[in-house]
Amino acid sequence: MGYINFNNAGSSFPEKSTLSIVKKYLENEKSIGGYLAESKYKKEINRFYTQLSKLINSKVTEISFLQSSTHALNFFINSINFSKNENVIIFDNEYGSNYLNLLNKKINHKVCNLEQNGQVSLTDLQRKIDKNTKMIFLCHIASQCGDLINVEEVGRLIKKINKNIIFVLDACQSIGQKEIDVKKIKCDILFGSGRKYLRGPRGTGFIYLNSNLKNKINPSLLDIKNALLKNNSYKIKTKNYPFETFEHSPALKLGLSNAIYQINKIGIRKIEKKIRDLSFFLRSYPFDPKKIKFYENINFLSGINTFSIKGFSSSEVSDFLLNKGILTSISNNQTSMHYFKKKKIKDVIRVSFHYYNSLREVKFLIKCLIDLIENK
Ligand SMILES: Cc1ncc(COP(=O)(O)O)c(C=O)c1O
Repeated sequence: MGYINFNNAGSSFPEKSTLSIVKKYLENEKSIGGYLAESKYKKEINRFYTQLSKLINSKVTEISFLQSSTHALNFFINSINFSKNENVIIFDNEYGSNYLNLLNKKINHKVCNLEQNGQVSLTDLQRKIDKNTKMIFLCHIASQCGDLINVEEVGRLIKKINKNIIFVLDACQSIGQKEIDVKKIKCDILFGSGRKYLRGPRGTGFIYLNSNLKNKINPSLLDIKNALLKNNSYKIKTKNYPFETFEHSPALKLGLSNAIYQINKIGIRKIEKKIRDLSFFLRSYPFDPKKIKFYENINFLSGINTFSIKGFSSSEVSDFLLNKGILTSISNNQTSMHYFKKKKIKDVIRVSFHYYNSLREVKFLIKCLIDLIENK
């Protein structure tokens, strides 16, 4: 049975050409060996850098290929020195794994509140920044709430206050569905995963590191790709891809490269509009607000929509939709501790649309939700 994928924020369906390029590459590994296959496909694999740099407006050498967003953030945090007094500011939509990273490193941190409308409170942020603020982390679109955050205004404020503060943007849920320009945003670090809105294979991700920061990092995982051994000592190669190590999956990198190429070919603005229109269609349906509650601000919609239905647990709704052939997911306090505490809710159901979803599929979802609510 074919499923309707409304869990694109978890993992989207890859495009046909991405699937076939990965399969073909793996067959090549089988027939000519992993190293020869890599050299044969070098040009196509390296297209990953040109395509991603085009999508985010960075230099080719500011990008590293990694396996996930979590690896990217961990790599970065572990590669930079923190002094005892320095602090990091996060927001109350922070993703659970990002937060764990701070706790694990015992980094001083302050939590800024998002406004009632889902946007950053610039006043609260300004108040919390002090002379020891080293970094500010922000999720462009959170996992558990699809409000699109105006990150350009946040970047402007941060750099106006202190241009040395490192602005770290989590684009895990926005890359591939929203236009991203690292120069306009003024972020120093940006990271994301391939399997979500980029439609890449699972186990892929990336990090962008502004070249001005390259000499401030000391990669936590060294090997002969990112460092040069010299007389019982070593030198870090800062020129290219500092977070990459020698071993990786060229097949998956090739798949991600193709997926990003497809996004650029279609055009991110066109994708953005199609996705937002689908969410707007769902949100425009006159559901009874006493029975179903949506959590996104209608003015800042993305592909991610979350809701609860009165009288049903999130897993009952999700199972019901799965029975109808619809993939969804559930977010809870592990996804974002601060968010669920603030909202005083246990969990939410998440439906996330991509451009390959159709209006017919969204209409079917609405019909299923009405059936569920009315047959209670
Ligand atoms: C906002 C956000 N950040 C980070 C992550 C972690 O991504 P990964 O599982 O690829 O490490 C996720 C995963 O869903 C996410 O939604």
